[in-house]
Amino acid sequence: MRLTRRSFLHRSIAGGTAVAAGRLLPACGSGSDDGTPAPVSQSRPLKIPPIFEGSAIAAARMSAELRPGVPTELWTFGGSFPGPTIRVRRGDSFRVDLDNQLDEPTNIHWHGLTTPADMDGHPRDVVAPGASRAYAFPILNRAGTYWYHPHPHGATAKQVYLGMAGFFIVEDDEEQALELPRDERDVPLLIQDRRFTSGVFSYQPTEPDVANGYVGETIFANGVPNAHFEVEAGLYRFRILNGSNGRTFMLRFADGRTFQLIGTDGGLLDAPIAATELWLSPAERVDVLADFSSDPLGTSIALMSESFMVGAAEGGAHGGGAHGPAAGVVRQGARLQLLRLDIKRAASSALVVPSSLSTVERMDRNAAARTRPFELSPREGAASGLHVINGKVFDVARVDEQPPFGEIEIWRVQSRDDVSIHPMHVHGAQFQVLSRSTDALPTDRGWKDTVLVFPLETVELIVRFADYRGLYLFHCHTLEHEDDGMRLNVEVV
Ligand code: C2O
Ligand code: CU
Ligand code: CU
Repeated sequence: MRLTRRSFLHRSIAGGTAVAAGRLLPACGSGSDDGTPAPVSQSRPLKIPPIFEGSAIAAARMSAELRPGVPTELWTFGGSFPGPTIRVRRGDSFRVDLDNQLDEPTNIHWHGLTTPADMDGHPRDVVAPGASRAYAFPILNRAGTYWYHPHPHGATAKQVYLGMAGFFIVEDDEEQALELPRDERDVPLLIQDRRFTSGVFSYQPTEPDVANGYVGETIFANGVPNAHFEVEAGLYRFRILNGSNGRTFMLRFADGRTFQLIGTDGGLLDAPIAATELWLSPAERVDVLADFSSDPLGTSIALMSESFMVGAAEGGAHGGGAHGPAAGVVRQGARLQLLRLDIKRAASSALVVPSSLSTVERMDRNAAARTRPFELSPREGAASGLHVINGKVFDVARVDEQPPFGEIEIWRVQSRDDVSIHPMHVHGAQFQVLSRSTDALPTDRGWKDTVLVFPLETVELIVRFADYRGLYLFHCHTLEHEDDGMRLNVEVV
């Protein structure tokens, strides 16, 4: 029997079973970490990151009281956690200077934006401590929710973990013409998990952390642990970014109400898709509308990451084995509250969900010049490169793939890993998802730069590098995996 992912998901919510490669696995042991862990600090109001103004962003340390009375050392862009939100319009020329005030190299990658290769923040292009450099590029992308973060090889995971990430929001005329929720009802939501029982951020990955991703028990929303947000009884737009190093979320409202998915990594869908559950792996974004207009004032509704089990080891069968999480670590797939929404005020205006949003031209399989295969494999016992693409560990100086400029290609990504989710990310272009060996996801309908590949799954992407030539990357966005070598150099020729 071929079991679809959808049915395994429902089973896993209901009764704790798991599937890998279409096989049903018994869930075992550890029921206790399935529930929401006790909050390690009081709920605090959500913050909205400041809007970027000026011409420079400093990469610098700062101290913040994420828990009252306990100073936490952070590494930040622009002196805030998350970094300031950059807002631009399509067609603008964007320019900023990065001042590296850290004592190690860093850089900025503009995740999801198509920039000239020398502006992309490739790991070979880092800025030395004390130095600065300019990034300048035209905004070619559609309106959508992009983001920025550092990308030095071997230190991306640590720098992001310590606080370096921010939103990069692109607007355009088409999107502005739609009657979507605006201003206080257009809410960027960076969701990240952290190990925070001590009240400070400490990044000390063990080998199981490198294998599984560095997952934590405390959820931060826009840098606030255990956050709540006061809303009107109306329609809201949430631009949700999973900025976690290694944790995948299965978004669901606690009462199972519907989200209207209006956009993905690369901007608006052609029309909203109603969904009650949305997968969101590291670096993916969903743009959703959520309606609180029938909620009585004074009530609350939680946005959750629902319990799931995936793969043979992480959640179940070999949970205590070599790749099992360290003691006390809340496993991948645990049920976690992401944000509590408190319905406080009557709506200031009534909005309806638009029935059509944009035009998304599907790329045609028959137009592809070739199929490029990528195999994702675990390597047991390797000192580095615990996960490899096409058998290779990243070498910053080696060119791995050379797609010709302007040609359409199918990238066939086949996971031979029965344990981990791999969120696979392309620099230099947005792509579309052509097929999956399990059920399609709602997010497969839009433009994407990062795609969730389940254990033992095969996903076909269709991609065309048609803006710039030069050196880009294809990599897993579990930050521990990529820093450990799960990256390839892709040169558009
Ligand atoms: Cu978000 Cu290569 O990265
Ligand atoms: Cu990127
Ligand atoms: Cu990975």
